[in-house]
Amino acid sequence: MKKVYIETMGCQMNKSDTERMYGMLSNFGYVETDEPKQADLLMVNTCSIRQLSEDKAYSLIGLWGKWKKSKPELKIGFCGCVAQQKAKEIFKRANYVDFVLGTHKIYSLPTIIEKVNNGEKICECEETNATEDAEAVKYNINRVKSVNAWIPITEGCNNFCTYCIVPYTRGRERSRQPETILKEVKDALNSGFKEITLLGQNVDSYGKDFKDKNYRLADLLREVNAIEGEFWIRFVTSYPTDITDELIQTAVELDKVCEYFHIPMQSGDSTVLKAMNRRYDREKYFEIADKIRRMVPDVTITSDFIAGFPGETEEQFQNTLTAMEELCLDYSNTAAYSPREKTVAARWVDKFIDEDTKFERLARLNEQNRKCCLASNKKFVGRTLDVLIENFEDHKGKKVITGRTRNNKIVHIPSETDMTGEFLKVKITDCKTWYLIGELV
Ligand code: SAH
Ligand code: SF4
Ligand code: F3S
Repeated sequence: MKKVYIETMGCQMNKSDTERMYGMLSNFGYVETDEPKQADLLMVNTCSIRQLSEDKAYSLIGLWGKWKKSKPELKIGFCGCVAQQKAKEIFKRANYVDFVLGTHKIYSLPTIIEKVNNGEKICECEETNATEDAEAVKYNINRVKSVNAWIPITEGCNNFCTYCIVPYTRGRERSRQPETILKEVKDALNSGFKEITLLGQNVDSYGKDFKDKNYRLADLLREVNAIEGEFWIRFVTSYPTDITDELIQTAVELDKVCEYFHIPMQSGDSTVLKAMNRRYDREKYFEIADKIRRMVPDVTITSDFIAGFPGETEEQFQNTLTAMEELCLDYSNTAAYSPREKTVAARWVDKFIDEDTKFERLARLNEQNRKCCLASNKKFVGRTLDVLIENFEDHKGKKVITGRTRNNKIVHIPSETDMTGEFLKVKITDCKTWYLIGELV
């Protein structure tokens, strides 16, 4: 038995691909190890959303390249979004890499490994824009042990926001067939998962590309909800203007679908949003968020924001701060703008914001985020909520079980026993910025 270790960077899409790659490799005589030093095959599944993520991948393979000097039989694979984008260039940068595998062809991994083990160097990075459902069903998926299973429903993106590399690394948007998704959901539930998260860059456009049927996210949610058993359903990420009333209504009506929307706003300023090629302005986003809050009791809305987009003025940045505050967003991911190869905004060099200003804005954004999170958490103190337990851990010297509420709030509960995977009623007694504190009722 040979040992494989995969280091996963980036988003849940990559995590999901890694689970599939481990699955494929297990059919070909490889076992997973969590000790990279002991592996015969090392792979990194890379992310290129920001320069920092890309650089992290290069420094990791640099280290692995050194190991290979004293262990020449070691094989190294460079996969994921940076691979898709850089292809053969990776060999120039790191000649010790044995194969480069992009995001479009992960199901060619078994063939690649065979060739690599025969001494060949392989680069498999052409864009296919195919959904590989037929291939996917052939292999197991070695899911990370957890209560939540991530199940991709769409791949790629057609939105071409001017800052974003995803359409170049993941290709055009394509929906996976409902049958494949439902099979993966049932398999995950049968093996003990308690929560299903349907995953896509833009889940609300699920099904837009089906020519033979009218079948959208709301239909898929109904079918998943109808599967027997106690489990929760989530879906991420939503694009503001693609969220239909039918989808919101479905989330209200279906008992297993959680009251949680992740809707990246990116900027609170309409001019910046236009330059970003987002198809909404500040007012439109407010309308959508208001509607969701009105229709879905106890809903939480989380978002993503970018600080220091090219040309962003101090005043425009302030509009982002006020949007975060006025919308009472429950949590936001934040980042400083990073120019990405091939994207439109990367050409606006004369409008780039200097690093100091960018990171100073990011710090203010993070401060506002902390305030919003705390305010949002305080609303739940005194309430009794359903919590799905995910972990049993030592937290600051005390044993706690941790889990999440339906609206995705993290809860810590003191407990001497592990109750991972259970749905419990919890009285919220206190909160911190990033989590709620509760006791079992
Ligand atoms: N599909 C999702 C987001 C995918 S990328 C959406 O439409 O919102 C995840 C997040 O990374 C984005 O929401 C954005 O906030 C951030 N991001 C993308 N490109 C970036 C860049 N060039 N610099 C900084 N942050 C970026
Ligand atoms: Fe990137 Fe925009 Fe697509 Fe999201 S919607 S993945 S930010 S291009
Ligand atoms: Fe990164 Fe690729 Fe995801 S660029 S954020 S790993 S789709």
